[in-house]
Amino acid sequence: MDEPILTVNKLTARLQIDKRAYKVVDELSFKLYPGKTLALVGESGCGKTLTALSIMRIMASPPALPPEGEVLYKGQNLLTLSESQMRRIRGSRIAMIFQDPTSALNPVYTIGEQLIEVAELHLNLYGDDAIERVARSLNEVGIPSPYKRLSEYPHQLSGGMKQRVMIAMALICEPDILIADEPTTALDVTIQAQVLDLIRSLQACDHMALLLITHDMGVVAEMAHDVIVMYASQAMECGNVFQIFERMSHPYTKGLFQSRPTLESHRGALPAIKGAVPSLKHYPDGCRFHPRCPFVMEKCKKGPVPDFVIDNETKHVSKCWLYDGTPESAERRGRQ
Ligand SMILES: Nc1ncnc2c1ncn2[C@@H]1O[C@H](COP(=O)(O)OP(=O)(O)OP(=O)(O)O)[C@@H](O)[C@H]1O
Ligand code: SF4
Ligand SMILES: [Mg+2]
Repeated sequence: MDEPILTVNKLTARLQIDKRAYKVVDELSFKLYPGKTLALVGESGCGKTLTALSIMRIMASPPALPPEGEVLYKGQNLLTLSESQMRRIRGSRIAMIFQDPTSALNPVYTIGEQLIEVAELHLNLYGDDAIERVARSLNEVGIPSPYKRLSEYPHQLSGGMKQRVMIAMALICEPDILIADEPTTALDVTIQAQVLDLIRSLQACDHMALLLITHDMGVVAEMAHDVIVMYASQAMECGNVFQIFERMSHPYTKGLFQSRPTLESHRGALPAIKGAVPSLKHYPDGCRFHPRCPFVMEKCKKGPVPDFVIDNETKHVSKCWLYDGTPESAERRGRQ
């Protein structure tokens, strides 16, 4: 296997709210590989977006405190770079696309002005060279008549077209890593499929690593090589996509997979899991999932839960006492 292009070690992000610091990302670790997709899944509010913003170092401060841990890219820890060093990497070597393309594009500048600025800033291309590069990018993401589009404003484009422009902007510098935060949630179903196809084909050409944030298991099945299931700021289960679909272990993962994407689940409630996600200010002691877990045991209610290895070869790991290897746990596991 290739060397990872990004290694995240114990990434921790805190928000300062009412003079107290709350962990919104709690010791998250993972690796991104060239040409591969890692899906970060979990219910609303579990810390997916703040993970991405911490890696990019674009969390609003306040309330965010500087993220801790390591984000290693080409041997350097992004968390300790100066802002000017980080600016050279952000948008050029590591790019991000957001759920809502409308808020990411500036309404008062034309598409051309916004894309050309990226070409000037990161590629040192000016004049006709910049225009040509930008038009090529628009063409690559399937936007017809790219030269004509350059003089249009974001409001003149449909949602799907705006998302394509966002992708063109993200990919203009041929980044090593693309972070896509719910890139298709705001789009209708047919356009969703087109945008996912587009990301996948561009990824195949450029061997780019993709960190894909989604709550949609269909998207995970279609796109991901590796999966992290996140709950209340922590990784609950990680593994490759086959392990996660075929041998999912964590009770939260099981609940998540049993839930169908309904209007309810989009509002943050999962019909297959009783109860609601705890608020950031009131994470329970012990396993953070324990008040909702059908398999809860006394030891789940106190102290941190270690990460237990389910399969060493595929690095399938579960943060759940059911997998601690004791005879009692094995018996409980058998009854699941
Ligand atoms: N600026 C902020 N001030 C206070 N709390 C915040 C702020 N931004 C995020 N949070 C809280 O931090 C937690 C993690 O938020 P985050 O946006 O990362 O969730 P998410 O997993 O991306 O959710 P979604 O699926 O809804 O996008 C949530 O509880 C959220 O309410
Ligand atoms: S650690 Fe306990 S409460 Fe948490 S998911 Fe496992 S069995 Fe359920
Ligand atoms: Mg989010």
